[in-house]
Amino acid sequence: MNRALAGRRIVVSAGPTYEDLDPVRFLGNRSSGKMGFALAEAAARRGAQVVLVAGPVHLPTPDGVARIDVRSAAQLREAVLGALPADAYIGAAAVADWTPRAVSPHKLKKMPGAQILTLELVRTPDTLAEVAAHPQRPRVVVGFAAETHDLERYARGKLAEKRLDLIAANRVGVAGSGFEADDNTLIVFSRDGAMHTLGPAGKREVAEALLDLMALFLDADERG
Ligand code: CTP
Repeated sequence: MNRALAGRRIVVSAGPTYEDLDPVRFLGNRSSGKMGFALAEAAARRGAQVVLVAGPVHLPTPDGVARIDVRSAAQLREAVLGALPADAYIGAAAVADWTPRAVSPHKLKKMPGAQILTLELVRTPDTLAEVAAHPQRPRVVVGFAAETHDLERYARGKLAEKRLDLIAANRVGVAGSGFEADDNTLIVFSRDGAMHTLGPAGKREVAEALLDLMALFLDADERG
């Protein structure tokens, strides 16, 4: 059995976030959480101490994983920062970039005659960037990027801007990859400029390949 991550503490975020509009409605996205759960499961199998911060998903907790359930981007931030220090952070959650400026305490009612409703949204905190800039920065920080077009340009941009070690880009909006699929292909860019294609394969197999890459960066960091 591969115990290469024994003794390491790894924080993984997974799933969507839901941003409440009122007591019955929210803004969400189509992330299933499967990729992040597969990563948490694979890391635990390799002996890591894994904290899985999970948005609203219907998935069982992998064996040996400590799970913290959250709903919103703000709650996800609190749980992830609270789980530091760690050797690595993998931000696989599809965190909402925007949240309603105010949550209505009452169900929003239709205004008689109105055909348009304008919602005011404000930016959510970027947990991934915050973790990468944190005084207790994990030695390896891995981000995800879901892109429909110009995947390489956008992914490399996020890698640099957020000061990540690795970014795993997903093509979304095509069949057999991305959010709701069981199979996935990840194009991974690393801070040293390299590009790796993982898959197409089951999310489990892709998770193992991403952990192999992450382990290389952990070891390299340790050797200085
Ligand atoms: N992320 C985060 N907190 C946020 C938004 C995103 O931690 N408020 C993390 C995600 O977990 C993921 C990465 O950042 O690892 C995704 O980056 P982001 O810039 O949000 O990608 P997109 O939503 O695809 O952004 P854009 O609209 O720029 O394409």
